[in-house]
Amino acid sequence: MAEGELVSFEKVEDIGVITVDNPPVNAMSPGVPEGIVAALDKGNADLAVKAMVLIGAGRSFIAGADIRQFGKGPPRPAPARRHYDVMDQSPKPVVAAIHGYALGGGLETALACHYRVAVPSAKVGLPEVLIGILPGAGGTQRLPRLIGPKAALDLIVSGRHVPAEEAQKLGIIDEIVPEGGLRDAAIAFAKKIADRRPLPVIRNNNGRLAEGTPELFEGTRKSIARRARNQRAPYACIEAVEAATKLPFDEGCALERKLFDEQVASEEAKALRYAFFAEREVTKLPHIPRDTPLRSTDNPAVVGAGTMGGGIAMSFADYGFDVKITDATQEALDRGMARIRANYETSVKRGSLSQEEMDKRLARIHPVTSIDDIADCDVVIEAAFEQIPVKEVIFTKLDAVMKPGALLYSNTSGIDIDIMADMTKRPQDVAGTHFFAPANVMKLFEVVQGSKSAPDVIATAMALGRKIGKVSGLAGNTDGFLANRSRAPFSTEMVIMLEEGALPEQIDKVMIDFGYPVGPFAVGDISGLDIGYDTRKRRAEQYPNYRTLPIADRVVEAGRLGQKTGKGWYRYEKGDRTPHPDPEVAEIIKKSAAEMGVPQHEFTNDEILKRLLFASVNEACKILDEGKALRASDIDVMWLHGFGFPRYRGGLMYWADTIGVREVYNQIASWHQRYGERWAPSPFLRKLADAGTPLREAKGNWPS
Ligand code: 3HC
Repeated sequence: MAEGELVSFEKVEDIGVITVDNPPVNAMSPGVPEGIVAALDKGNADLAVKAMVLIGAGRSFIAGADIRQFGKGPPRPAPARRHYDVMDQSPKPVVAAIHGYALGGGLETALACHYRVAVPSAKVGLPEVLIGILPGAGGTQRLPRLIGPKAALDLIVSGRHVPAEEAQKLGIIDEIVPEGGLRDAAIAFAKKIADRRPLPVIRNNNGRLAEGTPELFEGTRKSIARRARNQRAPYACIEAVEAATKLPFDEGCALERKLFDEQVASEEAKALRYAFFAEREVTKLPHIPRDTPLRSTDNPAVVGAGTMGGGIAMSFADYGFDVKITDATQEALDRGMARIRANYETSVKRGSLSQEEMDKRLARIHPVTSIDDIADCDVVIEAAFEQIPVKEVIFTKLDAVMKPGALLYSNTSGIDIDIMADMTKRPQDVAGTHFFAPANVMKLFEVVQGSKSAPDVIATAMALGRKIGKVSGLAGNTDGFLANRSRAPFSTEMVIMLEEGALPEQIDKVMIDFGYPVGPFAVGDISGLDIGYDTRKRRAEQYPNYRTLPIADRVVEAGRLGQKTGKGWYRYEKGDRTPHPDPEVAEIIKKSAAEMGVPQHEFTNDEILKRLLFASVNEACKILDEGKALRASDIDVMWLHGFGFPRYRGGLMYWADTIGVREVYNQIASWHQRYGERWAPSPFLRKLADAGTPLREAKGNWPS
């Protein structure tokens, strides 16, 4: 292949091999479709070629359209000859040879081929919905014709990646070929089918379209109503597949294209594209060379078998790691193991895990009675009580027994990493790895860099998070780190609004309508209100100017600790987790507000939303200013994966940009006048506003 050539053509005996080479993932950038057309023309014109194979160079077949091109100017007019149509009309068979990923436009290309072969590790899918669009190159028209409307709807509306074996069962893949031997096997397959006629052209295959009943489409719309609220893309996907069952192929494609062009320019799609790239950016650490050798993490251990420790052990086991777990007493360890088992059993009952898989995962978690038993582990995650003397006992012991070079990570959410590092003679091996509850479910993995953490200790932690299916993000060592510190003013503001006359159910409704799965007060009831109570008491002792929250304290003092006591901000019926507004809480609020003499006012939804989120935007700016975050977009990734912030709104900072950095600043400055110091605008925010720099593009003053 000539250097810089995106698509090449070569002959292997009587088979034409077309190779796409557009690193890193063979996206369909400008030039690739044109290159495929030219190669198909060559193959069709050459009398010695009987069939063709389309294959990707490097790590993937084709991962789809080039997302970076979306939203840049008006939609590109369709080329005079689209490769999909050229394939449909090709007199010679074309075989797609799939490894890595065939996603979006990549799978659509493969569907326009006559046959598809894949290696077992390959994955296929139409994930466009995840970036707020729908397949726009015939995917919604060809897939239902190939595998039936029901299965096609499932794939297109969920956007999931389907492993090769399942794809074969569905009828997407014709043959699975051995790993490593794709090119040769695809050529052999092409020879085998070269003379078969008629060619299987999916666009002509209307046999299964009648399976697309009105009930199927209505049922799908109903079933996604909750999770797809405020979004259009999932519905556009359904509309396009429904059109496939009603319209001739070309008309269906025209409708798909129209919906695609509308969606690609939508706010929802812009936000989701931003989230996609922010998630890739968060993995990059400018201060640590990319090729830093990583330490081994094959052999992990968890210290502390409480709720968090157990969830962390499950995270390892869920991703195939054998993990040791220990606690100070046998009873605590037994309790922890029983909790882990119960958690898995719940998943089995719900049908999200098979009994066999549960048994396998459970067998990977090895309880051991003492820290001495984990001495040869590569990595330890400490998840014990959040008290310095407890940490001291553990880190002193770890320092004494762990093999040299072992990684000593702490899951603390509140204690200075440097304090723990200094409890050891190897502070360079210590860092924070902060999980979010429930640890086996929530995706955020906040890596905290202490002042002495070695670069490879940080790089290894970031990679470890990804190995257990998490989204790793780096935070500086500041009180609450990055995620919780930026969230804290939100939590304060929501209670202060109660003092001024709002009710928990009113605030929760605003945030649910905004897109959170659960309102913040209901979340508090799930986590338990006593933790916040203890923290507030501690902080009040520590800081003389600490803003106390008497209403939150009184709710706890009335024995309302959340769901575990059947009442918190809401009341709960036995055996039911539905929150019911409780007049007793309204009474506590009213009484406290009267005693405090706070003037009451009516809240608009807009005010509630902005009071909560702007408070956090301001704090995020302070964090960036102090150099405790690399990028504003990292904060967005953390809010998406740690706090359930609606993805189609991009993240905290991205969302604030939709209002405008100047307007955010002005509003904060005016609340500063009205409410005092806690709303003092961050000078960093002011600078951004003055320069007109979008918040999402801000870089933190991270020390280089
Ligand atoms: N367009 C542009 N760049 C892409 C891309 C795409 N479709 N897919 C991946 N990339 C880039 C990433 O941004 C990253 O760039 P960077 O190194 O500069 O940060 C690089 O390729 C590697 O990507 P990952 O780090 O994500 O690599 P992984 O191996 O972890 O994952 C993947 C690979 C599963 C392919 C993942 O990148 C992915 O999900 N990509 C998006 C797939 C997708 O959404 N396809 C549909 C596109 S829309 C479409 O096709 C419309 C059509 O219907 C007309």
